Order: sequence, then structure tokens, then C-alpha cells
Amino acid sequence: MSDALNSPENDTEEMQQQVCVCYDVMRWEIVESIRQGADTVEKVSDTTYACQGCGGCRPKIESLIEQSSRD
Ligand code: FES
Repeated sequence: MSDALNSPENDTEEMQQQVCVCYDVMRWEIVESIRQGADTVEKVSDTTYACQGCGGCRPKIESLIEQSSRD
């Protein structure tokens, strides 16, 4: 995922927001995982470790999945 980190579209303030506090997962990491085919919170979690702690970030991940399915 290091290439994705360098891509300009991921280098915005919005993309650098932390989604999962427990595992320090940034928004761009979630978005990238969804782009690579993760279409459930579980799949995003498998690739990014997000949502493997308190679960408080689940609604945010769900909404990112939802947004991307509308694009
Ligand atoms: S904030 Fe993501 S698991 Fe706690």
C-alpha cells in the first residue's frame, strides 16, 4: 500500500483523517481497501485491521463502503 500513500488523491486532509482510533487506520487506507474489492466491513478489516478493537469505527467504514458503491 505504500504506492497508494504517495498518490496525490490520497494526500488530502480528508484522506489523512483517522477512521479507526484503536488500530490507527486512516481514511485513505479504508478507501484503498474498498477500491481493491473489499465490500464489507469484515473484508476491510481483514486488509487494514480497522474495526478489530472497540468497533466504534464500524459506522464510518460502512458509510465509506456505501459511498463508494454509489460512485
Ligand atoms: S476505533 Fe476502530 S476498532 Fe476501535
